[in-house]
Amino acid sequence: MAAWRRGVALRLCATVVLLDMAFCKGFVEDLDESFVFLFFRFKDSRKDDIWLVDFYAPWCGHCKKLEPIWNEVGLEMKSIGSPVKVGKMDATSYSSIASEFGVRGYPTIKLLKGDLAYNYRGPRTKNDIIEFAHRVSGALIRPLPSQQMFEHVQKRHRVFFVYIGGESPLKEKYIDAASELIVYTYFFSASEEVVPEYVTLKEMPAVLVFKDETYFVYDEYEDGDLSSWISRERFQNYLTVDGFLLYELGDTGKLVAIAVIDEKNTSTEHTRLKSIIQEVARDYRDQFHRDFQFGHMDGNDYINTLLMDELKVPTVVVLNTSNQQYFLLDRQITNAEDMVQFINNILDGTVEAQGGDSILQRLKRIVFDAKSTIVSIFKSSPLMGCFLFGLPLGVISIMCYGIYTADADGGYIEERYEVSRSEIESPEQIEESKAQQEPRTGDSPVPAVQEPKDVLEKKKD
Ligand SMILES: *[C@@H]1O[C@H](CO)[C@@H](O)[C@H](O)[C@H]1NC(C)=O
Ligand SMILES: *[C@@H]1O[C@H](CO)[C@@H](O)[C@H](O)[C@H]1NC(C)=O
Repeated sequence: MAAWRRGVALRLCATVVLLDMAFCKGFVEDLDESFVFLFFRFKDSRKDDIWLVDFYAPWCGHCKKLEPIWNEVGLEMKSIGSPVKVGKMDATSYSSIASEFGVRGYPTIKLLKGDLAYNYRGPRTKNDIIEFAHRVSGALIRPLPSQQMFEHVQKRHRVFFVYIGGESPLKEKYIDAASELIVYTYFFSASEEVVPEYVTLKEMPAVLVFKDETYFVYDEYEDGDLSSWISRERFQNYLTVDGFLLYELGDTGKLVAIAVIDEKNTSTEHTRLKSIIQEVARDYRDQFHRDFQFGHMDGNDYINTLLMDELKVPTVVVLNTSNQQYFLLDRQITNAEDMVQFINNILDGTVEAQGGDSILQRLKRIVFDAKSTIVSIFKSSPLMGCFLFGLPLGVISIMCYGIYTADADGGYIEERYEVSRSEIESPEQIEESKAQQEPRTGDSPVPAVQEPKDVLEKKKD
């Protein structure tokens, strides 16, 4: 009976329109100080509790967008009997708690388990969040007792890691790596009999990654530290790249070869470029997989902001995620051999790198960001734009005029200057009132220019 009711509730909330949202909200607990008190100060009594918490700010637009999704997450976790409790906390009311958790932006989603807080950085959709909660709340290393289980996992996950062998120092490193990287991917352990026959192992124990219809074996001497190898190998070879993913790919330090195309454009130029990259990714996997990621990106908006350039679609760009340099081709790519040639030229240093993170590039970034901010303010609200930028400009021109005419009339400039001074203060007041307004309107007016900045900041870390 109870299960049936939950099922109905689930469907009703999923269709949302009919019901008061308050009903669905019942599955998300509003957390306050007492939660933290119970969770942290009385660890013993609640040490097995696992919480999925949305730290939000009441004025933030992205948080409002997340709210109905969050309620559905709460409902679904409850209805499937998950041990994960779902809550939300107004991070502005409990700012000290939020900062204790390292909450810097809104919304921040964290899974709290034992002493650890895991950050969720994926897309804010119900399925992705629930998948994350299952993965992180469950066993760190999941045993694969049979070949059937192995096949089942292979069908479900496009990328996963497997430890093969008994107790060993490598296994300890594997567990360490998993406790940090479980937020991104899946970790299993198995005996040698369980893995498919096509897998040949030179030695045991071993750590393998299964992806792209093949597998790669971790080699301590060639690949270095296990954690960083896992960070590099946790992506499929070919990806649909967006700004978020590009940010994530920054962890790999690899070169990313991207076909920048218009997905809606069905002309052969666009579709061919995508399939050339796919072909290179597949057929030259052994040669390039250590150093390269491949993919395509829909539209050039994001990449233009990132490169501070105007790329014409379709085109190919290769980004070096470890130093923010990029490589562009000056000719058309018509087949896979062209692309391979281009890659080899990049590797042997015959293609000139552009961009980078030198001081000059950073200055260029500041100017570029300022310019795009101004443009986007003018676009979204021309009146505000005129106010913000017109007024100081007006003041400056009046001052210039004053200086210019000062020769003609000595006393005049003083007076003008006084007037200007009082006027100069007003732009700040406008700035202030804008700052106060922004929280209420929520979203930043310039999301497009902010994301690449994140990439930049991350690099500096
Ligand atoms: C598709 O791309 C081609 C080549 O870039 C361009 O000439 C054409 O105008 C595009 N078509 C559409 C519908 O955008
Ligand atoms: C990418 O950047 C790293 C770090 O600066 C550098 O060592 C490497 O040579 C670069 N790769 C290419 C192909 O330029």
